[in-house]
Formats: sequence, C-alpha cells, structure tokens
Amino acid sequence: MERISVMILAGNPEEKSELESMLSNIEYINVAREPKNLQIALSIIEAEGVNVILVSEDFDGDGYAICEGLAHEYPEKGVIILTRELHEDTVHRAMFSGARDVVVLPVEPGKLLDSIYKVNTFAVRQGKGKKEAKTSSVNAKLGRVFTFFSTKGGVGKSFMALNFAAALQEETKKRVVLVDFDLEFGTLALSMNLQPRFSINDVVNDIRNIDAEFIESYLTPHQSGIRLLSSTLDPRNENYINAEHIQLIIKTLQGSYDFIVVDMPARFSDTVSPGIQYADKLFLVATPEITAIRNVKASMGVLESLNYPKSKIQVVLNRQHRRNDIKVKDIEKTLDQTINLVVEEDHLKVPYSLNQGVPYVLKYTRSGISRSLRKYIQKNITVSPKKS
Ligand SMILES: Nc1ncnc2c1ncn2[C@@H]1O[C@H](COP(=O)(O)OP(=O)(O)O)[C@@H](O)[C@H]1O
Ligand SMILES: [Mg+2]
Repeated sequence: MERISVMILAGNPEEKSELESMLSNIEYINVAREPKNLQIALSIIEAEGVNVILVSEDFDGDGYAICEGLAHEYPEKGVIILTRELHEDTVHRAMFSGARDVVVLPVEPGKLLDSIYKVNTFAVRQGKGKKEAKTSSVNAKLGRVFTFFSTKGGVGKSFMALNFAAALQEETKKRVVLVDFDLEFGTLALSMNLQPRFSINDVVNDIRNIDAEFIESYLTPHQSGIRLLSSTLDPRNENYINAEHIQLIIKTLQGSYDFIVVDMPARFSDTVSPGIQYADKLFLVATPEITAIRNVKASMGVLESLNYPKSKIQVVLNRQHRRNDIKVKDIEKTLDQTINLVVEEDHLKVPYSLNQGVPYVLKYTRSGISRSLRKYIQKNITVSPKKS
C-alpha cells in the first residue's frame, strides 16, 4: 500500500503531540512536517504531497474557514475536522466547509485511522476522476441534482420528486435516477409499485468498491425509464449510514446520470445533508396552510445561516386550490420570495396514481398537475450537461 501523508493542523500543542504519537507508529502513515503558519502549511502540502489534512475546529481562530480554503484549493485532498464536542450543527458546518469527515476528540487510534483511510480512498478516487475527466472531457458528465425538501411531512415531497423525475425523463429523454433519502420512512418504491432487491444499505455495505458501474446494479428500473435507488429496507439499519456515504453516492450517480432527483426526510438530518448541499436546485415544498408556509420560512432562515446560495432555492406550492383562502401573492409576501412552481390539488387522481404505482404525470398527461410540471421543466431545465 502507498503511504498516506497526513498533516496535522491542531488547536494546541498537547492535541498535536497526542495525534502525532498515535500516527507515528503506523506503517502506512507518514506525518508531514509541522508548519509554522498557514502559508508554510500550503507549501508543505504541495512539496510533500500531503493526502489528508486534519484541522481542529479552533485552529488559527476558525478551523472551518481554514477547511473551506483548503478544500477549495485542493479538492483532491481529504480534509477532516477535529472537534472536542459534537454540537447539533457540527457535521453540517463541517460538510458545508468541504470537510470529508468529522472526528471527535479524544479518539481511539482505530477510529482515527479508519477515518483517514476512508477519506484518502475517496480523495484518490476523486483525483483520478478529475484526471480522467480532463482527458476525456467529451464524455465527462456531471449530472444535475434536484432535491425536494421541507421540514413538514405530508406536503407532497415524495409525490413531487417522483413526478418531477418522470416528467423530466419524458421531456428530455435523458438518464434520470430517483433517490430516496428518507431513510426512515421512504415510500418511493411503494408508490412506484416496485419491490427492490437492493437498497442504499447494500451500496453502503460495499462502499469501498463504489463506482458508476457498481452502483447501477443496486438500482431498480421502473417501466417509465427512470431508475430508483431505494431507501433502506430495514430502518433499524439506518444508523450506520453517514454523510460521507451519501455524498459518495450522489457524486457517483452524477458521473453516469444526467439528472438525479432526490427525495428527503421531513427534517434537517446531518446524514442526508449532502442531498441539500449538492443540489443544483433545492425545491422547498409547501402547501397553502400557515404551518407549512412557516416551515418553509424557517428552513429558508436555516439555509441562509449556512450561507446556502439563495439562487438554488425554488419554492413549490403544492395542493393549491381555487377555494383556498390563502392566496399565492400573500404567501410570496410572507416568504419574501417568488413561488416558482404551483401545483394544484387533485384529491381523486393523486391517491389513485400512487396506489397504482404509475406516476401521475404519465397517467394523466393532460391534467393541470402534469401541465404545470412540464411547463416548469421546459422553461427552467436546459438539456445540455453542466460544465464540470
Ligand atoms: N397535488 C396533490 N393533490 C392531492 N393530493 C396530494 C397532492 N400532493 C400530495 N398529495 C397527497 O398527500 C400525501 C402526502 O404526500 P407525500 O408526497 O407522501 O408527502 P411528503 O413526502 O412530503 O411526506 C400523499 O398521500 C398524496 O396522496
Ligand atoms: Mg415523503
């Protein structure tokens, strides 16, 4: 095995020596020279070919900012955030700053090595992918990710994700994969009348071998032409799936699919946060009810505090009805944001399509819901792949 070169950017000297002594006896690890400051760190990273960088969250005042800079400068290297305490937003902050993993100190050597090894394997793969992409840019694909989210259940995220995917496939004739990241309560397989043999669990169990070809065997084809990556078939298994797995799954699918449509759980979850982070468009779904609209407003606040680009956000108003006393204009005013897509309520045909396992837009092509989805796609989704 090639040795992994690790740089430690620790918050204090004890931490540094503790980590160093842990790593110095490991045969396949080489601890890089200690940098005096960040500038020197950069030159050592280049000169010594550092693979993995450990950054304390308090390093140089703000480890996350450092991490962001490093991840931006060296996308092919793996950055791991070290923290003393796992707060609710630690993993989010780490992921949004480009870190590949979070390690809580004090840590057992085995755990630290595991993280370094994992992050490095991923980094090498990414680096390779980059090189290949450079040499064969004609075939290089970087699928676009469309994610459906809201912190309220029952507003139609899953219905929208399924039908958006089916309509995309119809309109563009491109490769579309639908991914069920609602790991606890995923229902997409059911509403597509599929009995998947494999799920995200199987992908995660075999995560070291993941590539475009391999992940394909875990997808379930649907008669509409789209493919489904099903949520965990056994929710008890959800715990060992982490954000790095999810990130890897998205990146891998981006390599071979034009469009990746993601269905999310009804809460901010660290595990599946890459579904939001890597979205090209994030569809926040609301229904015309005060609670649902408040939820969208609160989500927009959280996203803003994470510096999430507002330009990615698309608000969907689902189950709109002429008799609603809340009007679109009022909702836009409350949210201080345009509603990008309005989908009407159809309380007869929607449940029928779900029970039959046939996407609504394919079954009732002329009805209002199908027309508004198609119109949105024609207007907003260009078919040419995005530049990598
Ligand atoms: N436009 C609509 N018209 C009528 N019923 C809808 C519509 N959208 C969703 N539903 C219904 O609402 C229920 C919840 O939708 P679902 O997609 O499962 O929500 P979520 O994923 O947000 O929890 C579904 O059973 C579906 O029948
Ligand atoms: Mg759902």
